[in-house]
Amino acid sequence: METVVSGIRSTGKLHLGNYFGAISNFLKMQRENDCYFFIADYHALTTHPHPDDLHGNIKQVLAEYLACGIDPEVATVFIQSDVPEVSELYLLLNMIAYVGELERTASFKDKIRLQPQNVNAGLLTYPVLMAADIIIHKANKVPVGKDQEQHLEMTRHIARRFNTMYGVNYFPEPDAYNFGKQLLKIPGLDGSGKMGKSEGNGVFLSDTPKEIRQKVMRAVTDAGPTSPGEEPGEAVKNLFLLMSVVSEPETLKFFKEKHASCEIRYGDMKKQLAEDIITVTDPIRARINELLADNGYLAKVVAQGAEKARASASKTVREVREIIGYKPF
Ligand code: TYM
Repeated sequence: METVVSGIRSTGKLHLGNYFGAISNFLKMQRENDCYFFIADYHALTTHPHPDDLHGNIKQVLAEYLACGIDPEVATVFIQSDVPEVSELYLLLNMIAYVGELERTASFKDKIRLQPQNVNAGLLTYPVLMAADIIIHKANKVPVGKDQEQHLEMTRHIARRFNTMYGVNYFPEPDAYNFGKQLLKIPGLDGSGKMGKSEGNGVFLSDTPKEIRQKVMRAVTDAGPTSPGEEPGEAVKNLFLLMSVVSEPETLKFFKEKHASCEIRYGDMKKQLAEDIITVTDPIRARINELLADNGYLAKVVAQGAEKARASASKTVREVREIIGYKPF
């Protein structure tokens, strides 16, 4: 049995990238392993959400998470800020994380570019908080998308450094995980780059069928292949990749063959893609709305989750304090 931790920031609605990059992987593991699934609402503060929005964002992401099929009776589902032990471990780990390595993280460099007016210290130490999230439960598997690979590498460095510095074999070195397959980067509909929450290129799990059809029909393609066997361009490759996660293998094969023989009609392909996305998201969307209306249930889930997560987290923090050398008088 493995210990599995996965998280998601409470900054906006969940999209197909979150679902196929991380959540669907987690769903496959939740029954056989000791699983923790949480909402990273401390991490969300790096972008300074308005206090009026913070709670609503957390609630939305929680409902969406659960609607995907995460079962709070088997997995521990909790809110990061309900487990204050994580902030103590974060503080302790900050003492062994080096500024140089943090400054070199791709996500930090991106943020400097995207929000030059708000380069706060929390952005720099974002990977340390993420390492604390993971190793506080001594996880060995972390189902995430490709964009989190570097953060996981940093988590392993920090875990290893702690063990070496204190001469212990305490923290496991966790792996980014996707069932022996490559980590996924789900592309957006704009022809380049990954699907994101704020890039305007995403299909959200809560989108209506009408919105999905409109978005997919507007997806970027190209003028079409001009000679048989021609490689699809980036935008069309992206649509094939989306098709590979939502459609039946025969459907993907059919359209790939049509492309290879220059008979493809992108309109037909997009119609099919939209319907196959709707098949995946429709039951989730219905469930999101039910859950959002059931505050009592959501409150129960996170209270129970916080209790279980705190039991595991406080044991680790107690042991870490001892290893570091804190002793009672
Ligand atoms: P976040 O909230 O950006 O994304 C949540 C999960 O969704 C995956 N993901 C994608 N996968 C494939 N293709 C995409 N286009 C795509 N977009 C998002 C992410 O890889 C991630 O797995 N730092 C994390 C949150 C976090 C965390 C953790 C995750 C905090 N602590 C501990 C795991 C363990 C983040 O911002 O994810």
